Amino acid sequence: MSTAKKEYKRITTKTLVDMKQQGEKIAMLTAYDFTMAKIVDNAGIDVILVGDSASNVMAGHETTLPITLDQMIYHASSVIRAIERSLVVVDLPFGSYQSDPKEALRSAIRIMKESGAHAVKLEGGKEVKESIKRILNAGIPVMGHLGLTPQSIYKFGTYSVRAKEKEEAEKLKEDAQMLERLGCFAVVLEKVPAKLAGEIAQAIQIPVIGIGAGGGVDGQVLVMHDMLGMTHEFSPRFLRRYLDLFQEMSKAFQNYITDVKKGDFPNESEQY
Ligand code: KIV
Repeated sequence: MSTAKKEYKRITTKTLVDMKQQGEKIAMLTAYDFTMAKIVDNAGIDVILVGDSASNVMAGHETTLPITLDQMIYHASSVIRAIERSLVVVDLPFGSYQSDPKEALRSAIRIMKESGAHAVKLEGGKEVKESIKRILNAGIPVMGHLGLTPQSIYKFGTYSVRAKEKEEAEKLKEDAQMLERLGCFAVVLEKVPAKLAGEIAQAIQIPVIGIGAGGGVDGQVLVMHDMLGMTHEFSPRFLRRYLDLFQEMSKAFQNYITDVKKGDFPNESEQY
């Protein structure tokens, strides 16, 4: 059991703001199913993100765009059934909040009501301001997401680092400050220069969680399948792999296949 686990019985949005004030870094990982969520919650993670990256790592789509609200609710419900301590944040999928604030609120309410999640995350700044306001007014906590926003991949045309130029960096800062003013409890910054991310984390009181945004922010998030080395076709510089599960699991599967083919499994003690 980790120390963090002993200190905080249950992580809330307020805990995260307190952690920033006390200089304690926030650890966040994605999870999409019951079993993995149980393991990561038990390990003492602060925040579980039911990310729309489920579209990639669970469903095998090339982008995050195809995943539906119903599918996100299915993943989120499975995660919620597993957790005892972590804060669970769920991505609003592409198409569920961009068209108008009322639809955004309806989507956020469905996630909260049908999955039991604790908060929602959505991508974008000024463009989605009215949707964020509407959701917050209903008492639903919102995490922002700026920088590389994968739902806009066809607008960007590439997954490369964002906000390297002054104009985009300025807009990013303004957006982060706007999210804080609106009442978001945290913001994810994805793939932006470390210096800029650090400045933004200094300039706002709410926690900034980085992915490819350097160490000067208030916490880090990674996609679970990437940090476990289950995916190996994806190798951005920011990714640290803690295991090579692709190799480990392949070996286990091959051993099983061999044992079955040889008639070595099951043995005497593995039958009734
Ligand atoms: O969907 C996701 O996994 C995310 C993280 C990469 C931040 O949004």
